[in-house]
Amino acid sequence: MAKRDIVPYEDRIRWFAEARFGMFIHWGVYSLLARGEWVMNRERTPFAEYRPLAERFSPTRYDPNEWAKLARQAGMRYMVLTTRHHDGFCLWDSKLSDFTAQKTGAKRDLVAEYAAACRKHGLKVGFYYSLKDWGHPDWLALQEGRMTDHKRFLSYIHGQVRELCTNYGKVDLLWYDGPGPYDAAGWESKRLNAMARRLQPHIVINDRSRLPEDFSTVEQHLSHVQAGRPWEFCLTMNENWGYAKRSPYKSTQQIIDTLTLVVARGGNLLLNVGPKPDGTIPAESVKRLKEVGDWMKVNSESIYGCTSHPLQWTNYGRVTTKGNALYIHMSKSWPGKEFVTAGLKNKVRSAQLLGTKRRLKTRTSDVRMWISGLPDKPPHRHGSVIKITTQGKPEATPYPQ
Ligand code: GLC
Repeated sequence: MAKRDIVPYEDRIRWFAEARFGMFIHWGVYSLLARGEWVMNRERTPFAEYRPLAERFSPTRYDPNEWAKLARQAGMRYMVLTTRHHDGFCLWDSKLSDFTAQKTGAKRDLVAEYAAACRKHGLKVGFYYSLKDWGHPDWLALQEGRMTDHKRFLSYIHGQVRELCTNYGKVDLLWYDGPGPYDAAGWESKRLNAMARRLQPHIVINDRSRLPEDFSTVEQHLSHVQAGRPWEFCLTMNENWGYAKRSPYKSTQQIIDTLTLVVARGGNLLLNVGPKPDGTIPAESVKRLKEVGDWMKVNSESIYGCTSHPLQWTNYGRVTTKGNALYIHMSKSWPGKEFVTAGLKNKVRSAQLLGTKRRLKTRTSDVRMWISGLPDKPPHRHGSVIKITTQGKPEATPYPQ
């Protein structure tokens, strides 16, 4: 294969479908205001007033190795950083803008450090890039209904994607956002993505340049998942993407339940953190990520490389599958010493409670199965998983009406 040949879809998407769990990071000048990443827009702050904030964006405690270590500890396999959000502030040393970390308070290329840290800690490197840019003169003109030089604006956008795909080594994932008000023709997305793929033959691209590309994205609500292709659900840990001081957090249990639900439906979870302006991840997020990590240490086998299974109608929780194994996530309730499940066509080889050496007994009769030998109480406070190994790929019988 010639070096620049685009990697076939099945090969480039494999790691993504296997990974199932990643870290989303929203960080930029807006973090200083601690009211989320839409603050400039929501408070109608004129760009001229917002822009000088960048001089104060000097993240003295920024160490992306800490982010990466935490992601690893949580069991995540990839990271996606906002290289530039809608406000236009570039975390990298873009030659096409003066509103960059390098040219303002930070005086560093924060993206270069991030990409190096991801690789060092064995995480795939993801770049979020907002197509819209509230700080660009052509975008501002568009808002004011004046004539804009769309061609110039597009060459800026395409040029920035080129920089990101050229100057930071291997980039595994490109996560566009904010395409409104243009469609794919307006962004010239076909040409844009063809360029990204030429520069990064392995790259996996999301669907927000208004072309389907490699995977679909759903945000905050799981209702509109598009079946039949890889998808990723992105979720905030509190009520904001960017750092927000007063924002109620989800519990660790809710996060773990969401992860299992997403995998049981065949998708990935991209869980967000909003670091503080100094570069540190808020303590509330750290605590939750560590707890998720404790759960993953015992149960990650039921997450990585797993997908949905038709047998979901159980009394106890969601079901994921991989190879000849079925994983029942006992999250709704704990059955006690024995429980019944039904609907498996295959012969059962063994049953095991993940994280324990305990051998469970199984007894089957037609499509019913009794599993016994469980402890009275679940061994893991955030949900225990029972693994059932079957002869051949587990198949389900249709549910009776
Ligand atoms: C939305 C928001 C944005 C956030 C993104 C994450 O499109 O505009 O602030 O970055 O969702 O999915």
